Amino acid sequence: MAIPSSILSVFVLLSLSLSLCFAEIRLSEIRSDGRPIIPFDEFGFTHRGCLELNVSQISLSNPNPDLDLSKVGFFLCTRDIWFHVLQQIEDAAITCALDSNFIKRVYSFDSLKGAKSFDTLYLHDDADQYTLVFANCLQQLKVSMNVRSAMYNLDGETSTRRDYLSAGRTVLPRIYFLFSLTYFSLAGVWIFFLYKKRLTVFGIHFFMLAVLILKASNLLCEAEDKSYIKRTGSAHGWDVLFYIFSFLKGITLFTLIVLIGTGWSFLKPYLQDKEKKVLMIVIPLQVVANIAQVAIDETGPYEQDWVTWKQVFLLVDVVCCCAILFPIVWSIKNLREAARTDGKAAVNLMKLTLFRQYYIVVICYIYFTRVVVYALETITSYRYLWTSVVAGELATLAFYVFTGYNFKPEARNPYFVVDDEEEEAAAEALKLEDEFEL
Ligand SMILES: *[C@@H]1O[C@H](CO)[C@@H](O)[C@H](O)[C@H]1NC(C)=O
Repeated sequence: MAIPSSILSVFVLLSLSLSLCFAEIRLSEIRSDGRPIIPFDEFGFTHRGCLELNVSQISLSNPNPDLDLSKVGFFLCTRDIWFHVLQQIEDAAITCALDSNFIKRVYSFDSLKGAKSFDTLYLHDDADQYTLVFANCLQQLKVSMNVRSAMYNLDGETSTRRDYLSAGRTVLPRIYFLFSLTYFSLAGVWIFFLYKKRLTVFGIHFFMLAVLILKASNLLCEAEDKSYIKRTGSAHGWDVLFYIFSFLKGITLFTLIVLIGTGWSFLKPYLQDKEKKVLMIVIPLQVVANIAQVAIDETGPYEQDWVTWKQVFLLVDVVCCCAILFPIVWSIKNLREAARTDGKAAVNLMKLTLFRQYYIVVICYIYFTRVVVYALETITSYRYLWTSVVAGELATLAFYVFTGYNFKPEARNPYFVVDDEEEEAAAEALKLEDEFEL
């Protein structure tokens, strides 16, 4: 097909044109922005945390020297603190978040004294998840500036080595690497199977191999990407590879689920029109989902579009997940009808059970990786954020293993397995038919 390759090149162009150097060290440009609150990144500090803030090219829309610039500045706060601050503002105890005694004030603009830039290093000894926030409590004041923020923790008790990954994410490189090894070994096992059972191998089995290898490569890139960020605070190109593999993995996995769901290459060598349409919807949507993912990762919450991209991503993901269920439902319906009308009821019922099982497993997989993982992410403490990643990856692994095990190449393929008794009965029936014809 010509479509995916052209889509791919557009995607690569798009992802390259977005600035890719941003990661845990983030460069943000604020241009005549009048928002009273601008959230920047969130970061899990240990008790040896640091925030490096370098702000340059500051210009205020109102250069009046009488302005009370202590009401403009940066501070750190947790979610709990933020609720307290909102409560204080509501009670009219304070008028500006920067006046609150709960927040950790990093810098307020009254210290600028006319300068156009400042650098500050804020040492943080309170272990918790903090968000860097810019507050501008002066109405009608618009601010422009370039912000470079770097948040990191110092390793151990005495070392000066920096760890740019948030407290709950610092083990992620190792986790991704382990999972990637697992998938590479699975791919090895799969190749061995394909070789041993080469007489009963279908096209779809090679497709499954491709999906496995893409998943393994994707995890490997993610491990390298995260470990590079951990050491240097920036991604340095590894993220491009990661996004490319994510994209390929995304479309191949969804295509595989659709193909297995329709029984392509097991039951029939062709796809029906409506099944092709599902693919035509899912593949472009995956492109959109991946672009949204890049936009979410590479910009930050300070961008006004950020929330929109998150919603686009969520919506597209839900639509894709629903769309891939249709072909399985159609297959189940067809098989049920076939079982009723044609004589080989036993064979068809067997296939039907397998398809039903697959349908349920796909739903569980989608539910777990979308809903449960998200819930885990929200309820676990920031220090154990990696557990939700592990849970999601384990569910994915289980899904891959289930799919591989149930649809492996086999002379007695599950699709064609019939018990001996049934086989005898079918043979009996055939003999009778033959005799009748004679
Ligand atoms: C940012 O500010 C910190 C703290 O003052 C300083 O050590 C660092 O060199 C600055 N970085 C840049 C890129 O200006």
